[in-house]
Amino acid sequence: MRTVVEPLKVRPRPDDQMRRLFSGGWPAFIGADRQASRHLGRVREVFADLELVLLDGDDELVAAGWGVPIRWDGEPAQLPEGYTDSLQHALGGHDRGESPDTLVVMAAQVRPDLRGRGLAGDVLTALRSLADQRGWPRVVAPVRPTLKARYPLTPIERFATWTREDGAPLDPWVRTHWRLGGRLIAAAPRSQTMTGTVAEWEQWTGMVFPDSGDYVIPDGLAPLRVDRELDQGTYTEPNLWFRHR
Ligand SMILES: CC(C)(COP(=O)(O)OP(=O)(O)OC[C@H]1O[C@@H](n2cnc3c(N)ncnc32)[C@H](O)[C@@H]1OP(=O)(O)O)[C@@H](O)C(=O)NCCC(=O)NCCS
Repeated sequence: MRTVVEPLKVRPRPDDQMRRLFSGGWPAFIGADRQASRHLGRVREVFADLELVLLDGDDELVAAGWGVPIRWDGEPAQLPEGYTDSLQHALGGHDRGESPDTLVVMAAQVRPDLRGRGLAGDVLTALRSLADQRGWPRVVAPVRPTLKARYPLTPIERFATWTREDGAPLDPWVRTHWRLGGRLIAAAPRSQTMTGTVAEWEQWTGMVFPDSGDYVIPDGLAPLRVDRELDQGTYTEPNLWFRHR
């Protein structure tokens, strides 16, 4: 499909198209990262130029993706801890007046009826070009391996090594990054932390949690830890750091 890329902010977007693009694909608890929620409003304002959309020939939204800029010396050990920490690094660097040199690709989204046709690759390519235009030599991404939800008990470091018979990564979203030349440089076992009361977790997952303990939850990449005494559930989401050049 031939698409046109532009920043989301350059014109108003019809609500129904936005709803359609962002419907499905994310578990209900994805918004329960309190730290990320605190930063997201400001991030979207300050780095609005780094939020891109793809339009088809009829000017309909078909995909989107966004990133944040950081300063990074190229050493995996110096990367942010993951998704949420990248938001903090980006805002901190901005507030200190630092010049960034690295784009962190934070997320991509493809309209549900158009998945599996390579549009996510077009989003990544568009974001990489954006880094080129800005003169940022490095592009990295804390990738959320979508298939990991089927293997919530496997450590992320092991899951990262799993390949298909043809040698390509087993995880489909990781595969898209890999096919575009991205390479795994580090695990991010604590990329995001979602917290809520037991009642909130019951609502988000459609399960009940009668005891304190660890539970496998739908769409969770790792188990949920429930503490009934504190009335709290904590879920720590693992991601994988990919470097694109
Ligand atoms: C993850 C996501 C961006 C991938 O977009 P996409 O355009 O479908 O990606 P691709 O076309 O490159 O497909 C990647 C792989 O997933 C498989 N796939 C993904 N969705 C599929 C679907 N609905 N039907 C069939 N195959 C699908 C493809 O077969 C492909 O595997 P391949 O290597 O065998 O070709 C998209 O599924 C999405 O928006 N998901 C919800 C949001 C999300 O999880 N984002 C990623 C975390 S930031």
